[in-house]
Amino acid sequence: MAVIFIIFKILVLSLSNCFAEEINLYGDAGEAYAIDIYLGHPHQKFKLLVDTGSTTLAIAAYAREDSNIYFHSDNSSSLYNSGHKIQAAYTQGNWTGLLASDFIQFPSLNGLPEVRTDFALITESHDFFTKASAWQGLLGLAYMPVGAWGEAGSVESWLDAVDRNLNRPVSFYLKLCGPVSATNTTHYGYFNVVDDHTRNYNRNKTFRTPVLRKRWYEVGVIAIRVMSTKSNETNEVQVQDEVRDPDEEMCVKLNAVKSIVDSGTTQIKLPDKLFRQVVDELKNEFRKSEVILDEFWNGREAACWPEPQVWSLPWLAIDLLSADADNQYFTLEIPPQNYMLVVGVHNSSNTTGTVSTYCYKLGLEAGGTETVIGYIAMEGLQVLFNRSAGWIGFQSSECGSNARITGPYNASESLLSSCQLIRPVADVATSIKAAQWSLCGVFIIATSVIIYLLAPTVKSLCDRKVRRLQQISLSQTALVEQESE
Ligand SMILES: *[C@@H]1O[C@H](CO)[C@@H](O)[C@H](O)[C@H]1NC(C)=O
Ligand SMILES: *[C@@H]1O[C@H](CO)[C@@H](O)[C@H](O)[C@H]1NC(C)=O
Ligand SMILES: *[C@@H]1O[C@H](CO)[C@@H](O)[C@H](O)[C@H]1NC(C)=O
Ligand SMILES: *[C@@H]1O[C@H](CO)[C@@H](O)[C@H](O)[C@H]1NC(C)=O
Ligand SMILES: *[C@@H]1O[C@H](CO)[C@@H](O)[C@H](O)[C@H]1NC(C)=O
Ligand SMILES: *[C@@H]1O[C@H](CO)[C@@H](O)[C@H](O)[C@H]1NC(C)=O
Ligand SMILES: *[C@@H]1O[C@H](CO)[C@@H](O)[C@H](O)[C@H]1NC(C)=O
Ligand SMILES: *[C@@H]1O[C@H](CO)[C@@H](O)[C@H](O)[C@H]1NC(C)=O
Ligand SMILES: *[C@@H]1O[C@H](CO)[C@@H](O)[C@H](O)[C@H]1NC(C)=O
Repeated sequence: MAVIFIIFKILVLSLSNCFAEEINLYGDAGEAYAIDIYLGHPHQKFKLLVDTGSTTLAIAAYAREDSNIYFHSDNSSSLYNSGHKIQAAYTQGNWTGLLASDFIQFPSLNGLPEVRTDFALITESHDFFTKASAWQGLLGLAYMPVGAWGEAGSVESWLDAVDRNLNRPVSFYLKLCGPVSATNTTHYGYFNVVDDHTRNYNRNKTFRTPVLRKRWYEVGVIAIRVMSTKSNETNEVQVQDEVRDPDEEMCVKLNAVKSIVDSGTTQIKLPDKLFRQVVDELKNEFRKSEVILDEFWNGREAACWPEPQVWSLPWLAIDLLSADADNQYFTLEIPPQNYMLVVGVHNSSNTTGTVSTYCYKLGLEAGGTETVIGYIAMEGLQVLFNRSAGWIGFQSSECGSNARITGPYNASESLLSSCQLIRPVADVATSIKAAQWSLCGVFIIATSVIIYLLAPTVKSLCDRKVRRLQQISLSQTALVEQESE
């Protein structure tokens, strides 16, 4: 009886209520997934991007040219405004704000208490919110060292506030499902906060990769490669028993600066040279059937077709260091529907009826020196971020694409040393000094992708709708929008 009682008690104490899973993430084509929150008393409702690439919650607190949805700070009786100025700058924009704290609650996560959290009230911004953005801020989910710093020290993240309130560490998972359908580019998914006692109803095997440094979710990426079209499930089982050593040059380059898992970024970003290598392989495969101009492959333009596309392109493989042994890795296998990103479906009518166009953009981008695993690599998977223990667990899931995970595969020696994944961690003083800039670094990633997708693609779609439709009626083959230089 005692045992039963204890088990019962644990179940009651756990975040079991959170577990009634409901769709609580939505996003527009090319934009990251956003969740509804209530901020302040009385509640004001907003949409925040779930962003594992930053730490500090930040929300618009002023009316922008194109949106009048913002946090009315005067209206919240529970707001504490410290008056300390805080700012973030990035390549294509910046924001300035004030450090504040208030109560935050998630309408979709019933079991989670309302907690007081620090956040930035954005009072001025340039090119941060995009014209079309349906969201008003960011929900940062990374670790404290890359959060904002105020005069009084570090700014507590929302998740740290939840940990403190519940007096135990919590984790969270993302289950991103991709577009609703071939004709609706709105993507949807699930976000949930769990603790060590929450039951995971997904019984599929969890493949864990260690978080190498608890700043961003920094992981060891062993390879990103195009899978051979010949390989199929039967001979993969055979390879599993062999020792498969990584391409050392590639894995050293991938992790030379850092590799992060970032739900606030859309695409998979690769160091320039590796990007070329992967894209050239894809391009050659594609040439066998159809022709798309280079502007598509260098990521600048969207390609549009008069009907939704079913891709016969090869899958992408992302090899990640395993948390079980340092000579092991596992492979995320990403189908083409993940990386051939739908960026727009447009109906327009002509004299004889309605014409639809389906536009796609390459989900890979050259990222200077860093590697970023954006959300398209997580669609179709359930991804658990175990913050306190420092690992990320991947499982195949029932929603979204049929992305899968294989492995583990063995290398003949430690991948930590052969891929040079162990580097001295900067001492505390340096990381505090660097923190303001770290925050900025993340915004570069998150925002530049959003702007990238929205500005040249969607905007030009509207501007040049007529011309493109004429092109389609001329030829039913692959068409590419050309940006007038
Ligand atoms: C401000 O608060 C009052 C109640 O105190 C509420 O009726 C009103 O709708 C709020 N305004 C905004 C913009 O939230
Ligand atoms: C933000 O960007 C704008 C436009 O580029 C610039 O005028 C402004 O000085 C910047 N503000 C900060 C705080 O960096
Ligand atoms: C796309 O799906 C979303 C979510 O189900 C829905 O709210 C929206 O109205 C749909 N859009 C169109 C154009 O059908
Ligand atoms: C996090 O990891 C630790 C150690 O591996 C484990 O005991 C704990 O149950 C994990 N938490 C969740 C929510 O999976
Ligand atoms: C895998 O192999 C089987 C037979 O060996 C073949 O029928 C199938 O088409 C192959 N699958 C792929 C994706 O090549
Ligand atoms: C792979 O490595 C693990 C741990 O080092 C070992 O237990 C396992 O037997 C190895 N498997 C193969 C097929 O070599
Ligand atoms: C476009 O038209 C088709 C068929 O007429 C319809 O099923 C689809 O929902 C429309 N899409 C949008 C984005 O309006
Ligand atoms: C109008 O749309 C129809 C398809 O619904 C297409 O067959 C026709 O060529 C289009 N006409 C023009 C002038 O673009
Ligand atoms: C487990 O993975 C398979 C695909 O590998 C998927 O069909 C199934 O729905 C998953 N189970 C759950 C509970 O997500």
